[in-house]
Amino acid sequence: MDPSGPFGAALRGWLLLAVCWAVAAVAAAGAKVLPPPSNLNYSFIQICTLNWTWNPPENISSSCDLEYSSDIVIDEVPQNQRQWSKSLFRVTDTFLNEEMRFKVRSECKHDNASEPSRWVETSVLPKGIPGTAAVGLNCVWHNLEYMVCKWHPGENASSDTNYTLFYWFDGLKNPKKCKNYSISQGSFECTFSLTFPRFTNTYPVISILIRDDSEEIRPVCASKNPTTLVQPATPKIVELSYVNGGIYLQWSESDAFPANCLYYELRYHNGDLTVAQTIRVTSNRTSIPSVDFNSKYTFQVRAQPKPECYSSKLCSEWSEEKSIGENPDSTFYFVLIVTIPLVVAVSTIVLLVYLKRLKILILPPIPDPREILKRMFGEQNENPQSCAKDDSMNAYDKLIKEEEIHSLILTETTESSNSEKENR
Ligand SMILES: *[C@@H]1O[C@H](CO)[C@@H](O)[C@H](O)[C@H]1NC(C)=O
Ligand SMILES: *[C@@H]1O[C@H](CO)[C@@H](O)[C@H](O)[C@H]1NC(C)=O
Ligand SMILES: *[C@@H]1O[C@H](CO)[C@@H](O)[C@H](O)[C@H]1NC(C)=O
Ligand SMILES: *[C@@H]1O[C@H](CO)[C@@H](O)[C@H](O)[C@H]1NC(C)=O
Ligand SMILES: *[C@@H]1O[C@H](CO)[C@@H](O)[C@H](O)[C@H]1NC(C)=O
Ligand SMILES: *[C@@H]1O[C@H](CO)[C@@H](O)[C@H](O)[C@H]1NC(C)=O
Ligand SMILES: *[C@@H]1O[C@H](CO)[C@@H](O)[C@H](O)[C@H]1NC(C)=O
Ligand SMILES: *[C@@H]1O[C@H](CO)[C@@H](O)[C@H](O)[C@H]1NC(C)=O
Repeated sequence: MDPSGPFGAALRGWLLLAVCWAVAAVAAAGAKVLPPPSNLNYSFIQICTLNWTWNPPENISSSCDLEYSSDIVIDEVPQNQRQWSKSLFRVTDTFLNEEMRFKVRSECKHDNASEPSRWVETSVLPKGIPGTAAVGLNCVWHNLEYMVCKWHPGENASSDTNYTLFYWFDGLKNPKKCKNYSISQGSFECTFSLTFPRFTNTYPVISILIRDDSEEIRPVCASKNPTTLVQPATPKIVELSYVNGGIYLQWSESDAFPANCLYYELRYHNGDLTVAQTIRVTSNRTSIPSVDFNSKYTFQVRAQPKPECYSSKLCSEWSEEKSIGENPDSTFYFVLIVTIPLVVAVSTIVLLVYLKRLKILILPPIPDPREILKRMFGEQNENPQSCAKDDSMNAYDKLIKEEEIHSLILTETTESSNSEKENR
């Protein structure tokens, strides 16, 4: 028979089971079941922290290296938070809006002769009406300075529910009540100051409890690790200039953060390019080499925590945009807008002036006969005192004079032609 066949596997399975039963029967026969711990109880030691306590079992032999094994079940779901300890208490977080069951048993370590005791259990039941607890709690730690938490009312909570947020962390003597509330569009928000000495590199877990004074509203607890909630302040670009053929930038640096715990993302685009480039910078300044000086560059910067310092992946908001240079297109249009009307205006004026002259050339003014006469006679009376009655006389004289000149020319030409004939 092939041992790797299905029958072989089944046979081996049965054999294994039989061996197990035999071993168990032997163990049960020899082993003594331990008595369980007694008086299991709990108490709140902080708003969201429980101290589970119990008493040791009786009649434990001195050879037993006694330990307590404990575990948590939430709403019937085992949490796999098994722990072994010798102490008579265990401290756990609680959520309050779900049933939390705690179980503990006694065990003798390194001892096959005794069996662990049965489990002893006790549970914390949620108070209030189901569906009235605050939901969607989300907190952000702004610039290591203040925590902003937001949440929504539960679906079964009345619209005038006055949720109150309490917070506590290791180092605070008593829980504190958050007082700076705002409610917008059914969403609650509360801001509280949260600062630690600047050179701290470990932060306590923040316990947050949201409840209402009304018995009907179910309280809810949450634990927040502040290092995962860090959001740096939005930087501001404070310098932007051309330096050595490139662009130099500097932006404000949050002084709440230790040195070298932030890096920056610089996003920029030039001209009408819609694709932005993003570069990562580890200090609060950088240069962009070899830029196109005929192009406009627009920059934005945002800060992000370094993973070496904080396990948060929350970036700041992008800073306000800052630009340097001018787009060639925009200057071109600017030139067009300014110069075209100017050119049109100037050429219109020139044209008008020119047209006036042209008009004179093409359409000379219609001669006025009186004017001609005036001019004709006026030329002789250079003396303005000469009278009009002499005019006819002068005209006559002029005619005679002209006739004389004509006859003179005539006689001259005849004479000259005669003389020419003689010369031949
Ligand atoms: C649990 O402790 C409280 C006081 O903290 C006490 O009133 C209560 O009776 C205790 N429960 C048991 C079962 O011992
Ligand atoms: C829990 O309660 C036990 C018994 O009262 C006490 O000894 C222990 O110190 C408490 N633990 C804490 C963390 O308070
Ligand atoms: C512990 O042992 C004594 C006698 O040794 C016995 O009387 C008592 O009932 C035992 N208690 C328990 C809880 O088993
Ligand atoms: C307990 O079991 C281990 C092996 O698992 C064995 O070495 C040891 O001898 C056993 N002790 C007793 C008391 O049976
Ligand atoms: C709200 O109340 C109704 C009726 O009591 C219940 O069925 C429902 O489960 C509650 N909602 C939640 C989220 O628990
Ligand atoms: C919430 O507070 C306001 C004003 O303090 C009060 O009028 C209202 O009744 C409260 N709501 C509840 C459910 O108690
Ligand atoms: C209250 O919180 C807002 C932000 O939600 C903040 O701008 C304001 O300064 C805070 N007021 C006080 C007194 O802390
Ligand atoms: C940039 O960082 C340097 C060195 O860390 C600092 O001296 C300077 O003030 C910072 N500039 C701004 C604008 O915060």
